[in-house]
Amino acid sequence: MSVPLDGRRIVVSAGPTYEDIDPVRFVGNRSSGKMGFAVAAAAARRGAEVVLVAGPVALATPAGARRVDVRSAAQMREAVFAALPADAYIGAAAVADYTPRHPSPDKVKKTGETLVLELVRTPDILAELGVHALRPRRLVGFAAETGDVARYAQDKLARKRLDMIAANRVGVAGQGFEGDDNALVVYWPGGERALGPAPKTELAERLLDLVFPD
Ligand code: CTP
Repeated sequence: MSVPLDGRRIVVSAGPTYEDIDPVRFVGNRSSGKMGFAVAAAAARRGAEVVLVAGPVALATPAGARRVDVRSAAQMREAVFAALPADAYIGAAAVADYTPRHPSPDKVKKTGETLVLELVRTPDILAELGVHALRPRRLVGFAAETGDVARYAQDKLARKRLDMIAANRVGVAGQGFEGDDNALVVYWPGGERALGPAPKTELAERLLDLVFPD
């Protein structure tokens, strides 16, 4: 039996962010948004009031969730903070870590044989939430790693002051960003649990069971 979430407010971020270089080009990533959308759908089904802050993805809005579409990391940050206070924030979005320093209002024309694009760090939404006055009581991050999953995930758990982090290994066939299935290892201070391999819809349910045990 899953725990009902009536009366809880949950903010979920999902998908990639696109950081514009010029009006026709951007820096993006391969996040499909499926994991975050599955978490939002499962939480809404359990009765939570869900705000789903979605990067650019072509997925149907889960029944019962309020969706806010954004494009860039800066816009995602605005939308997430505007959705507070919340009981939980589940940061499934693959937020770009860097954005072009000088996005061009006009299309960049080719000139030389090489082109150097200068990028600057984006705000770390999750880390900011970790120290925010309105910090949700349950702060959950995701970590996509190509190796050394446990070490990097536990480091992020501590560094960003999270309650939980769901790590997955990317670059493995049938797992990670684009597929319908995935495998997660969820870490919290003093514990861990492996989930899957399983469909992302199933993993979303099991993750919510860990975030809201009662
Ligand atoms: N995140 C965020 N804001 C950012 C970057 C990431 O909120 N600007 C969140 C993501 O939503 C995710 C987690 O932080 O929950 C991922 O951590 P991150 O440090 O971005 O992981 P990597 O990019 O994989 O970091 P690194 O390059 O250090 O491995």
